[in-house]
Amino acid sequence: MMQPLVDNHGRRLNYLRLAVTDRCNLRCRYCMPAKGIASMRRDEILSWEEAYRLCRIFVELGVEKIRITGGEPFVRKGLLPFLMELSRLPGRPEIDITTNGTLLADHLDALKHIGVRRLNISLDSLNAQTFYAITRRRNFENILQAVNKADTLGFKVKINVVVITGINDHEIPDFVRLTRDRSWTVRFIEPMPFDGAGGQYKSLLTGDDILARLESKFDVEPVSNGKLAVAKLYRVPGYQGCIGIIYGYSRRFCGACSRLRLSTRGELLTCLYGNPVLDLGALLRSGKGDVTIKRAIRGAVDKRLSDGFEAERSLQRSTFNSMVAIGG
Ligand code: GTP
Ligand code: 5AD
Ligand code: SF4
Repeated sequence: MMQPLVDNHGRRLNYLRLAVTDRCNLRCRYCMPAKGIASMRRDEILSWEEAYRLCRIFVELGVEKIRITGGEPFVRKGLLPFLMELSRLPGRPEIDITTNGTLLADHLDALKHIGVRRLNISLDSLNAQTFYAITRRRNFENILQAVNKADTLGFKVKINVVVITGINDHEIPDFVRLTRDRSWTVRFIEPMPFDGAGGQYKSLLTGDDILARLESKFDVEPVSNGKLAVAKLYRVPGYQGCIGIIYGYSRRFCGACSRLRLSTRGELLTCLYGNPVLDLGALLRSGKGDVTIKRAIRGAVDKRLSDGFEAERSLQRSTFNSMVAIGG
């Protein structure tokens, strides 16, 4: 049995986030400017075969959960056959998806068949106009339809809401009420400085501000969900679902962080806020074997920085200024 991946601070790494595309059909203000962001050439991003090989290697190193992210994963052709292959990997990793939901509805039956059970869906407003103001696109109804269908089909649904002062923060109570009759988890996210435009939205409203808003309207009680979770969870007594706060900017969960990231190009990141630490895409393409690649991954994990603040201070240049290539 292979030694699991443990970093130099004793944190076990068993969760891989794989960004399968840097393209997206929305233009969320906190993620990119109106004109979008130059996409990478097709040959720059990992092929499905390359992504599969890296996932297999990570699973052999003890990764138990792979979250597919983007950009928007469903804009890339070939996603479903890829997921089917991943789900058959020895070790049977859990396969989860983070999506903006716009293209999701038609794929739900296939996802169920593949064995995907958990979907994190971004939905920043319950109002079509506000949704448009944030995403600059008009797909609101498609997302609602997808979320409801996912719920009916038995998927575990988490709704991600990036809270922006003056734009959607007044909807916090509406989102909380959504959890009354549905067992979804609605998570409010602090904006982070990855908006493709220099970080103008960062930390306008902190997680503690959001909690204060919740407490001013509802009798919320904490829900325990393990120390590895990225969200602090609450519930309104009697409601079926949960409410979460993601302190992504305040970085409260670094001490227990179990996450690795693979960018669309195949760069390994050991922190969302840091530089890529290893170019796995280049290693694959130069013909390196699994043993060499595994040794390189262990070497990188052994030099992991202690938290997202240290990682941010270490940035030589702003490699990723939007979440599209790092997958959030
Ligand atoms: P699960 O815990 O598997 O449900 O997924 P998740 O909540 O980590 O994933 P999701 O893709 O839904 O991300 C939700 C928010 O958390 C996004 O805004 C991410 O950018 C943020 N996030 C995810 N991982 C990290 C992390 O390691 N550090 C920070 N600061 N934020 C993160
Ligand atoms: N700050 C916080 N969350 C962000 N996301 C994308 N960009 C940002 C940002 N700058 C969220 C999306 C999605 C998840 C993957 O990351 O809304 O839910
Ligand atoms: Fe697309 Fe997600 Fe970025 Fe919005 S946050 S533009 S949905 S990648």
